[in-house]
Amino acid sequence: MIQNDSAAIAAAKGGTSAIFVPAQSLRPPLPGEVLCQTLEIGVCGTDREVLASAQPFTPPTEQHLILGHECVARVLECGPETPGFAPGDLVTPVVRRAKEANIARPDMLAFGRYTERGIVEEHGFAQPRFVDRAEHLLPVSVEIREIAVLAEPLSVAEKAINEAVVIQKARLDQADYKPRVLVTGMGPIGFAALVACRLRNWETTLFGRDEHDSFRAQTAISFGARYWNERQCLAPADVEREGFDLILECTGSDHVMLRATESLAARGVAVWLGSSRRPQSKPHNVALLMRNAVVRNHVLLGTVNAAPRDFRQALTDLEQLQKTHPVETRALLTERIAPRDALWHYENRRPQAIKTVVVFGE
Ligand code: BGC
Repeated sequence: MIQNDSAAIAAAKGGTSAIFVPAQSLRPPLPGEVLCQTLEIGVCGTDREVLASAQPFTPPTEQHLILGHECVARVLECGPETPGFAPGDLVTPVVRRAKEANIARPDMLAFGRYTERGIVEEHGFAQPRFVDRAEHLLPVSVEIREIAVLAEPLSVAEKAINEAVVIQKARLDQADYKPRVLVTGMGPIGFAALVACRLRNWETTLFGRDEHDSFRAQTAISFGARYWNERQCLAPADVEREGFDLILECTGSDHVMLRATESLAARGVAVWLGSSRRPQSKPHNVALLMRNAVVRNHVLLGTVNAAPRDFRQALTDLEQLQKTHPVETRALLTERIAPRDALWHYENRRPQAIKTVVVFGE
């Protein structure tokens, strides 16, 4: 087995554990392509789900998928006639790519019409170097070098918020949308949603399982959010006065989603950012969800991935966070590990971990 820091981290067909495989052998970049050195990779719930499925969507004819879709990298070499980047530039790649040309919103495509690096049919970035097309790379400013690995998960939260904003502006004709927000979940997407809302100066409550004095609850509070756990009631007696206008559901739990939605005020939007890949059928009071959605004019919305708009906004928001909350934002990166120590983290999570980062290069 290959076990050094020049290997790639992969999911194999038929296995549920992350493994080391040889990195892709690379050729010099062609016109329009860029050769990059991977600096950091974020480990996320999707990686764990890909592994748990034992059926990764590998590139056609291959038996494994190199993981890694949250990435900050450095440009090593640009192909001929490839404007826009120079060696030494920092970049972050987008995840999803349309299989056809001229698609403005690849994030809206149906399954089968796109690839996702590190997730669907294309190898990811958990390897020392990779080649990508310039149009899939976004420039990263040196000021946010340390936190830029958060750009991809943050882009997912930005999309959820931006879609809610677009919908509310269209149907309510409200110039100034200032929702009271409930974020459910204390994983990296929950925290991404929380910081994105706080940057917009929205009153934000995080709901999770931790005690109030836990590291994660205190981290939420350090961004100016309120923290709630099971001791607070998620179904307030007076939903209009004490409820929420926007719910960002980041646990992927049907149970939490149903309970949280009981606190959604009239005209509210609930966005689902996570879900179970293998849903189980369970008895639930879905009739209540329907009743409340009807009488309160709710929008229940699912979102995945991010539009180019959202990815750019994630980078702008990280620049802002680096100015206003440098220490707190850095605290979201709870562990930095070498590739040789990374495999355990693809199947396990430490109790108070938020984002684990695999460091491939300095
Ligand atoms: C990624 C998204 C991707 C989704 C589904 C998430 O972890 O952040 O970009 O679209 O998985 O594959």
